[in-house]
Amino acid sequence: MKNSKQTASAGEGRRVVNEMRLRLPALSQNEGVARGTVGAFLAQLDPTVEELADLKCVVSEAVTNCVVHAYGGRGGAIYITVRARADREVEISVRDHGCGIANVRQAMQPMFTTDKSGERSGMGFAVMQAFSDRVRVLSAVGKGTKVTVIKRLSPAGEL
Ligand SMILES: Nc1ncnc2c1ncn2[C@@H]1O[C@H](COP(=O)(O)OP(=O)(O)OP(=O)(O)O)[C@@H](O)[C@H]1O
Ligand SMILES: [Mg+2]
Repeated sequence: MKNSKQTASAGEGRRVVNEMRLRLPALSQNEGVARGTVGAFLAQLDPTVEELADLKCVVSEAVTNCVVHAYGGRGGAIYITVRARADREVEISVRDHGCGIANVRQAMQPMFTTDKSGERSGMGFAVMQAFSDRVRVLSAVGKGTKVTVIKRLSPAGEL
């Protein structure tokens, strides 16, 4: 009986308590829009200042990648979904229908970049990993990419 009770409460923790979906054109100014909008959604979950700042950075990096790499500055749609679960796990996914990534493992290596302009340092995925618990990347060349970042917020009320 003890086990079944534990399973039941674990299941309750997975319950989605709030959700946001956002669709934005891949314009560089929408990096700030996405960051601010996701930040406003997350703020009502009572995150710490650091958790909020970290997740906003994650959104900036993922959205910038859609604008710069997926669509090469030519525009397209970016779909952002944020889910909050009862156990305070937050899941942010950023999806595009852009060029896709041929080698995800290589793309996620710190300092790997396909940028030729010298403006990029290849640290976007490294930042996403450092500022979250888990980063999952699904991609298909010519079809697009979905980046999902998961982070469990500390208990409400902690600073
Ligand atoms: N959504 C995407 N679509 C297509 N390619 C992507 C996408 N996101 C990342 N990439 C590829 O993965 C590489 C690594 O991404 P990452 O964000 O780590 O570094 P960067 O964008 O090149 O540089 P930085 O983020 O430091 O400005 C990119 O150079 C690009 O080739
Ligand atoms: Mg990047």
